[in-house]
Amino acid sequence: MMLETMLQPALRRYWHPVATTSEITAEPKRVKLLGEGIVVYRDDHGLVAMRDQCVHRGVALSTGRVIDGLLECPYHGWQYDRSGAVAHIPALGADGTVPSQARVWCHNVREAHGAVWVAPEAPIADLPPWPDDDWNSPDWHVFLVDTWVWKASAGRMIENAIDFAHFNFVHEGFTELADGPFIKPFEITPTDDGMVYAYDDTLLMRSYTLHMPFTLHDRKSVIAASGGRTWSEQGDTKAGDVTTITFIASPTDRAETLIFVFLSRNHSFDTPDAEFAAGFNEVMEQDRMVVEAQDPPELPLDPRDELHLKLADSGSIAYRKLLRELAPAS
Ligand code: FES
Ligand SMILES: [Fe+2]
Repeated sequence: MMLETMLQPALRRYWHPVATTSEITAEPKRVKLLGEGIVVYRDDHGLVAMRDQCVHRGVALSTGRVIDGLLECPYHGWQYDRSGAVAHIPALGADGTVPSQARVWCHNVREAHGAVWVAPEAPIADLPPWPDDDWNSPDWHVFLVDTWVWKASAGRMIENAIDFAHFNFVHEGFTELADGPFIKPFEITPTDDGMVYAYDDTLLMRSYTLHMPFTLHDRKSVIAASGGRTWSEQGDTKAGDVTTITFIASPTDRAETLIFVFLSRNHSFDTPDAEFAAGFNEVMEQDRMVVEAQDPPELPLDPRDELHLKLADSGSIAYRKLLRELAPAS
């Protein structure tokens, strides 16, 4: 069994984004997390998220409807309350007693940063923070760029975001290292919930913050006195301009990932967000092509699997180790 498969119980204890805010309405909607269908909707009290599988005969509850605050299965009309308990079974009549086991798993659910987040079990960590408290600071403007679905594991996706050694091959004209593909020495520092490291390519200081398991901030600070054009700033930049790209990989299944990308900046507030979002489809497609071509789709966590370069792959090596530490001792 791949170690990433063994991580599934640990991953149930983190918040994962499952949809954008606008995708979740009063209509039940099916999303997927860690291989499980989840039905999500809004009622008068807020968000509801429960297993999308009727306890009676397994019909997806997302194909039902909400009536008077109860989610009704379309097959035999069993009605679920917002805690996942069956409140009414028509076949039992008005006086019937609903069996106490008649309930589905109810997930922790919340809304933040333009997304709806689910934690299947009591979460052991809060939502990932941003490096400059971007959502709360008036000096920063942050927005959700878009979401993408890849046929790859969340681990493979985040490792791709960690790995800047591929930029000069996959992202020509977008985000290459300004001083070429040779990787100079750089330091990785462990943190309470992940790691940080930075790489100076003479134009940009690229500071990375990883929050386990699947959040990576790529904070690009213009350091060249002359400024210069980088792919994420469509116009010319000046020293001190910072753009942070945040990747959050939501593990919908072992080999499928829903990716949320956010962009934050401390400059060019008058420039429309759309100008900063331009180019992402192309760059994400460039990454998708290589990551979906990786075999196996799950990230091998045994250090003897795949071949690592001590320095150039040190971010990946450290990430695999952190993931290994999440898995239960075997
Ligand atoms: S399958 Fe849902 S009520 Fe029978
Ligand atoms: Fe990439």
